[in-house]
Amino acid sequence: MTTRISAFGRLADGRTVSRIVLGSPPGPVLHLLDLGATAHRLEVTGSDGMRRNVLLGHASPADYLASTDYIGGTIGRYANRIAAGRFAIDGKPVSVGAHDRGNHLHGGPDGFDRRLWEIAEHSHEHVVLELLSPDGDQGFPGNLRARATYSVDAGGVRILLEATTDATTVVNLTSHAYFNLDGEDAGAVDEHLLQVSAEEYLPVDPTGIPLGGCVPVAGTPFDFRQPTHVGPSVRSGHEQVAWARGIDHNFALDAGSAPAAVLESPRSGISLRVLTDQPGLQVYTGNFLDGGRRSSTGRLLRQGDGIALEPQLFPDTPNRPEFGSAVLRRGESYRSSITWLLGRS
Ligand code: GLA
Repeated sequence: MTTRISAFGRLADGRTVSRIVLGSPPGPVLHLLDLGATAHRLEVTGSDGMRRNVLLGHASPADYLASTDYIGGTIGRYANRIAAGRFAIDGKPVSVGAHDRGNHLHGGPDGFDRRLWEIAEHSHEHVVLELLSPDGDQGFPGNLRARATYSVDAGGVRILLEATTDATTVVNLTSHAYFNLDGEDAGAVDEHLLQVSAEEYLPVDPTGIPLGGCVPVAGTPFDFRQPTHVGPSVRSGHEQVAWARGIDHNFALDAGSAPAAVLESPRSGISLRVLTDQPGLQVYTGNFLDGGRRSSTGRLLRQGDGIALEPQLFPDTPNRPEFGSAVLRRGESYRSSITWLLGRS
């Protein structure tokens, strides 16, 4: 069988946005868009036998482009924040713009989630999307070739994000999928159980920039070492939660942790296990969804309607050598692997 590719809509300049469907029932079925290499829809069977779409999405290319919620997109060149949009590479200052409360966020105002990726390869179960980000794109140096491979089998979805460059740059790619395991339009995920394999998380200032280093989650609303309801944590009066209006924080994944996180809905019986080779997991509880945008079925997306589990480097790594390195040099390959294993309780 061949992959099913159809038109999802058009951009203002007339270019067609394609939808690529991977997998087949009763297994997971993923709908991807070449616009933003976006995970648009993921159909899964619950323990009640019902098929549900467990990903938030929008209905049209225009809706995706009007949104600043990064729904389902592949984020690049640099996921998360870079303080004041400034850093240095080999001692040379780089400025990438600061469009989010004084900081750089998710690759810039015209990040990879807004680009039309090229469909390089496809089958019934997988697709390879490619993007050339030219030297100077959003301020980042080097011609960067990015590649996103999405594969679907009976167990779930595997995402491989890769990049190469012709000049030294920084890279941090991720998937910004928002999950609601009761279905896209089911309302807030408060009753979902979340488990994150992290003894520590990274406190941030009110603009999302790390204050210092990681601190223990023990005794805080960030303690998800055991399966814990999302609702009480996002409503706690903790200063970190208050500043972010919920959880919007990097968890320092325990070394060798597999899975990095488990999300489960007792209602649908659907469980999601997230595996990754990245050191951090940004957990974002849809704090800025404010009813200003519509879901793919036309309903309003409101705060907490989905939760994003974004494997990546720690925020502001280009300015924080103690967090590791985000640098990619000519001849090197960047590689990040994300797996969503789907199951039933
Ligand atoms: C990330 C950020 C959030 C927010 C969302 C999109 O998860 O950490 O602060 O910008 O993306 O709205």
